Amino acid sequence: LPVYVLNGPNLNTLGTRRPEVYGHATLTDVEANVRARAQTYGLDVVFEQSNYEGQIVEWIQQARTQACGIVINPAALTHYSVAIHDALEMCEVPVVEVHISNVHRREAFRHTSFVSPQATAVIAGAGILGYEFGVDVVAQHLGLR
Ligand code: DQA
Repeated sequence: LPVYVLNGPNLNTLGTRRPEVYGHATLTDVEANVRARAQTYGLDVVFEQSNYEGQIVEWIQQARTQACGIVINPAALTHYSVAIHDALEMCEVPVVEVHISNVHRREAFRHTSFVSPQATAVIAGAGILGYEFGVDVVAQHLGLR
């Protein structure tokens, strides 16, 4: 089964959106890096982005039976989505929450996460490398490293 790598609102603009915070790499670059990393473990990747909460919920529900793990950057939804919290609560696969920026040194509203209580691991502030670390953590849980 593949790893699901899910991205929330505004991450389609990665590369042009506040590069001083999120860097110059695009989501296409992230996808290429993640696929390369996953390949080292023999894992396939389903890589998705949506600006819609309900779409993310549907992918998480799918992942329950169709993924070996989830790497998710819920973006702004992190800080208020009970729906994503509840969808992840039903998942038995490893879930890694990734934030490109270090949310803890930013505005107070980014210090709360509705996702962290459901996450196997949380990675913040490692830049886009965090996604690759997320794949590493999933691989570790599957006994692939
Ligand atoms: C983010 C941090 C969130 O607070 C923000 O809303 C994002 C991106 C990150 O990757 O650093 O959209 O999840």
